Amino acid sequence: MDCAQLAEALAEAQTREEAVRRTLALLEEEGLIACGEAYWVGEGLRLFQMQACRTQCPLLARSRELAGEALAQGSPVAQGSLLALPVGPRGRPLLVLVLSLQEGARLPEALPALLLLALKRSGVGQAARFLRAQEEERRRVGRELHDGVGSLLTAALLTLKVAEKRPEKLPEARAQVAEALEEVRRLSRELRMPLLDDLGLEAALRRYLEEYGKNSLRVEAHLQVPPLPKEKEVALFRVVQEALTNVLRHAKAHGVRVALWTEGERLFGLVEDDGQGFDPAKTPPSVGLLGMQERIQSLGGSLQVRSAPGQGTRVEFGVPL
Ligand SMILES: Nc1ncnc2c1ncn2[C@@H]1O[C@H](COP(=O)(O)OP(=O)(O)O)[C@@H](O)[C@H]1O
Ligand SMILES: [Mg+2]
Repeated sequence: MDCAQLAEALAEAQTREEAVRRTLALLEEEGLIACGEAYWVGEGLRLFQMQACRTQCPLLARSRELAGEALAQGSPVAQGSLLALPVGPRGRPLLVLVLSLQEGARLPEALPALLLLALKRSGVGQAARFLRAQEEERRRVGRELHDGVGSLLTAALLTLKVAEKRPEKLPEARAQVAEALEEVRRLSRELRMPLLDDLGLEAALRRYLEEYGKNSLRVEAHLQVPPLPKEKEVALFRVVQEALTNVLRHAKAHGVRVALWTEGERLFGLVEDDGQGFDPAKTPPSVGLLGMQERIQSLGGSLQVRSAPGQGTRVEFGVPL
């Protein structure tokens, strides 16, 4: 098998999972491996199985252990016919393949590099799709505000002007304002995530993270949130959502950690990524970061953004319960 074949198989992969699946399938088709498995490398170098051997092959009974050894050594580890192959930068691989090699099989040398390339590319594609969907949603809301509420209020304003001279027009103006108000209510109902109303903050965040996790970022969540008043839940949800959107949009991160927990009479939160970071002192504060600050302050809490170029970003906050 040559590299061109592998590159071609990987070219079309839309997700990281698919890139791994295609790689294993091709190696198997080409008679290089009997079977194989793949593990994601999570926070603290923990392994998560992402692709298990379909046949539950006994050869792979030790695959997790072997993947762990390869991870610890930062290089491939062979044992009998088994090979554990880290893929990604030394010291911080993205995943480890464990392959049960056929006798005399020689893997293409460029396999780890090609797979890494495909993983990165498909991750970027997924993030872009997610952001586009979010952008589209905002444009839609903006349009509805402008065309719906905006035009109703404009009409009311005109009617009021007329009513200055002809008071019999006042009921009409009042009806127009009432209609605009109804429109605002409808829009806000739509925006106020029914999830949050039905499930509460913790479960709603878990749902959100499930969707968010499809962006091929490693997501680690530690959520322990007691039931809170609705306004608090909405504010906290939006803060975490903004921090996570920033990670996707600006951080170029591999992983993100989200935590919410209580200590004594306070609730603490943390969104931390391992991305490129930025210099908060040199970055003019804009709507997103300011909005987070404002929301937390309105709950009587405080929020810090700690970041430096190359050091990732950490958003921390605490609010009274
Ligand atoms: N997690 C992050 N990683 C890297 N840069 C970030 C991160 N969060 C925020 N930033 C930087 O801070 C700036 C301000 O963020 P924000 O106020 O949310 O505005 P916006 O997201 O609309 O650009 C961003 O444009 C970006 O340069
Ligand atoms: Mg932002």
